[in-house]
Amino acid sequence: MSETVNTCEAQLAGWLRQAFQAAFGEALPDTVAIRVQPSTDTRFGDFQCNDAMQLGKLLRKPPRAVAEAAVQALPLPPMLTKVEVAGPGFINLTVSPAWLAEQVAKLSAAPRFGLPDAGQGRTVIIDYSSPNVAKPMHIGHIRSTVIGNALDRMYRALGYRVIADNHLGDWGTQFGILIQGYRAFLTDEERAGLTVELLERVYVQSYNRTKEEPAWLDACKAELVKLQQGDAENRAIWERFIAISLDEFSRVYRRLGVGFDLCRGESFYNGTLPETVQLLQDKGLAVESEGALVVKLEDEGLPVCIVRKSDGGFNYAATDIATVRSRVAEFAPERIVYVTDERQQLHFKQFFTVCNRLGYTTRLEHVWFGLMRLPEGTFSTRQGNVIKLEALLDEAERRALEIIKAANAEMPEAEQKDLAAAIGIGAIKYADLSHDPQTLIVFTWEKALALDGNSGPYLQYAYARVCSLLDKYAAQVPGVEPLGNALALDEPIEKALVLQLLQFPAAVVRAAEAYKPSILADYLFGLSQTYSSFYQRSPVLKAEPAVRDSRIRLCAMTAQALSEGLGLLGMRTPRRI
Ligand code: ARG
Repeated sequence: MSETVNTCEAQLAGWLRQAFQAAFGEALPDTVAIRVQPSTDTRFGDFQCNDAMQLGKLLRKPPRAVAEAAVQALPLPPMLTKVEVAGPGFINLTVSPAWLAEQVAKLSAAPRFGLPDAGQGRTVIIDYSSPNVAKPMHIGHIRSTVIGNALDRMYRALGYRVIADNHLGDWGTQFGILIQGYRAFLTDEERAGLTVELLERVYVQSYNRTKEEPAWLDACKAELVKLQQGDAENRAIWERFIAISLDEFSRVYRRLGVGFDLCRGESFYNGTLPETVQLLQDKGLAVESEGALVVKLEDEGLPVCIVRKSDGGFNYAATDIATVRSRVAEFAPERIVYVTDERQQLHFKQFFTVCNRLGYTTRLEHVWFGLMRLPEGTFSTRQGNVIKLEALLDEAERRALEIIKAANAEMPEAEQKDLAAAIGIGAIKYADLSHDPQTLIVFTWEKALALDGNSGPYLQYAYARVCSLLDKYAAQVPGVEPLGNALALDEPIEKALVLQLLQFPAAVVRAAEAYKPSILADYLFGLSQTYSSFYQRSPVLKAEPAVRDSRIRLCAMTAQALSEGLGLLGMRTPRRI
C-alpha cells in the first residue's frame, strides 16, 4: 500500500531496522518484518516493537539480548527521547514532542487528514441497500444502506474508484401475483394514486388467494408469462410499480444522504440469464437434477446451487452470477462487495463458489450483518410486522427536535428543524455503525439519543463544542488561523491527544479493510474522550498566549479529524448545536 504520509510507525520501524542491521549485520534475515505499533501501555513509551521475540528464535539468542544489542547499536535519533527494553524483549520507544508535533502537522495539512491513497484508482463495486420493488423498505435494508454507504465513503476517500450499485429486486415470480392483484383488488382511484403501501396490501391478498384457489395461481402465472414475453400492458404496469417504489426509496435515500452511481435492478440482467446458464452447462459445471439445473458444490461442503428451477425459471443465484459476468466485463473491478443481512450467507457462498469455478478472480466479499431488534413500543407507527423506515426516521427527527427545542429555545425554527434532521438521522446511523456489523443490535431511543454515551449526538455535540471554542478564540484573537500556530506538546495529555490524532488514517484503513465502520466509530469515540480530558485539564482561552495558541491548534486539528471521520460514517457535523 502506498502512503501519502509516511506514518510514525513506518519511520520508527525504519530506524529500528537499521539498528538491528547495525547489531547483527548479515545475520539479520531480510524476510523478517520489523513492525512498530502504538503502545498498549503508554506508561512505558509511545510506541513499541515486539519483533525481537521472533528474531531471537531465528538468531538463536535470548530475545532480550537481541533487543538490547539493537538499541545499543546506534545513537538515539532526534525523533526519540528514550528507547528501553522491557520484559522478555519488548522495545519501548518514547518520541520527542517536537517530532510528534511535526508529524501531526503533516496530517493536518494533508487532504482528508492524511488518508493514504490505498486504492490508487482501482475499482470496487459496492452492492448495497438493494430493496425489493413493491415492498416497503424494512429494517434490514436500513442496515444495508447505512453500512454500505459508510463503506462507500471510506473506499472513495482511500482512493478507490467506487461504483455504488443499488441492485433492486425488480424481477421475479412476485410480479405475476402483483399484476393479477393490481387488476382485481384496486379501485380506479387507488390505481391512480398508487403507493407502495397499496402494492403491499395487494400482494398479500393475491398471494393468499394463490394458496386457496388453483385457478388464481394459474392466472398469476399467466400474467407473469405475459410480462416476461414483453406484453405492452403488463410491461407498463410493472414499470409503474418500479417508478412508484423508487420514488419512495428516493425519499428515504435523500433523508439519509445516500446516493448511488447505478440503480440497476435484477431485471437489467434478465436477457443474459439463458447464456449464463448455457455457459455453466458448456463448462460442465451445471447438471440436470430432478428437472432442475444445478451446480454441485459437495467439494466445498455446500448444498447444490440451483441455477434454473424445474419449471424452467431462472432464480436469484442465476441472476447474481449473470450480474458478476456483466460487472466484470464492464468495470473490471478489483472486488465486488455485497452488503446484506446474515440470512443470505449461504446464497453468497454458493454463487461465489460458482464464479470461482467459472474462472473469475475478482474478489467477491459478502459483508453480512445481524438484524436490528426493535423492542416493542419503539415506534408510534407500526403496520403489520413491517416497520416502515420513514416512520423510524420521522420519530428520530421528532425526538431530536424536542431535545433541541428544550436546549435552544431562541434558535429560529428552520434551524431547529435542520438540526433535528442532522441529529435524528445521525443518531440512527451511529446506533447502527457503532456496533460490529455481525452482532445483533437492540435499538433503543435512550441509547441512540444519549448525550453522554457512545452515541451520534454525543460525537456531533463534541464537534460543535470544539467549533464554539474556535469561534471564541477567533473573537479573542482576530485574524489568527489556529492551524498556523506553533505547536508545543508539554503536557502528557497534549501528547496523548496528538498520538491519538495520528491514528486517524490507520483507523479508517482498518475499518475499510475489515468492512467494519464500527472500527472508525470506536476510534472517534476514543478521540472525543481524550479530547474531553484534555479540555478539562488544560485551559485553552485562559492560558498564557503561547500555550493558548498551541492548544487551540490542537482543538482545530481535533475538529478536522472529527468532521472528516463523522463524514465518512455519513453523519452531518453542524458547527452549532
Ligand atoms: N434484494 C435483496 C433483498 O432485499 C438483496 C439483494 C442483494 N444483492 C445481490 N446482488 N444479491 O434481500
